[in-house]
Amino acid sequence: MDTSPASVVRELYQSSVESYAQMMDSEIELPVYGEILSRLNARISVIDGGLLDSSCGTGHLLELFHKQCAPSRELAGIDLSPAMVENARARLGQKASVQAGDMRNLSGFAPTSLSAVLSFFAIHHLGPGEMLPTFEEWSRVLKVGGQIVIGAWEGSGQIDYGESSDVIALRYKTKELSNWLEVAGFKVDRCWVEDVDGFSMDAVYLEGSKL
Ligand SMILES: C[S@@+](CC[C@H](N)C(=O)[O-])C[C@H]1O[C@@H](n2cnc3c(N)ncnc32)[C@H](O)[C@@H]1O
Repeated sequence: MDTSPASVVRELYQSSVESYAQMMDSEIELPVYGEILSRLNARISVIDGGLLDSSCGTGHLLELFHKQCAPSRELAGIDLSPAMVENARARLGQKASVQAGDMRNLSGFAPTSLSAVLSFFAIHHLGPGEMLPTFEEWSRVLKVGGQIVIGAWEGSGQIDYGESSDVIALRYKTKELSNWLEVAGFKVDRCWVEDVDGFSMDAVYLEGSKL
């Protein structure tokens, strides 16, 4: 099954940016985010190069990384939705460079230039045939030893947006995600599944290194 095209996904987030930002104001306090970013910061401490959030939304993760981990690390964010980009820019100011962009095509970033690529709760908008090329694209821009961190909805089948949207987005199994990452040239160093309060789906988190 294919996911909805970018134009439809963009519309979904264009119209929900305010409520999304409000939700993230409290979500970002969950220990999982701070723990993942601290671990990431330790793993990239010996690697220079910027950190990219490949679907930064409202920029909360970049803000937390800047505040809690490494204020001097160069930070960048891209997002499909111009309204999200505007919201993230207002939040981050000079702390990060945020542009409209597509995680599937990082042509604005030079090969082996980055230390880390983040992706939180956005790859459900990619179809199965887009996963491997996207992970290969992230590998292209990372230095050897560079890190990826992914948070995603775990499982199979469509995400249920209820009455609020008919966007088609998909969950993926942990094993499928790790296989694609390995084929794209990553070693999966850590992965785990967690239930998420207030959601009927589990989240999977994967941390990996570019070989
Ligand atoms: C559920 S939000 C998550 C935002 C942020 N990562 C977070 O965890 O708060 C999904 C985000 O992915 C963005 N997105 C969806 N498809 C994308 C793509 N192909 N490239 C870049 N961003 C995309 C949406 O615009 C939206 O901001």
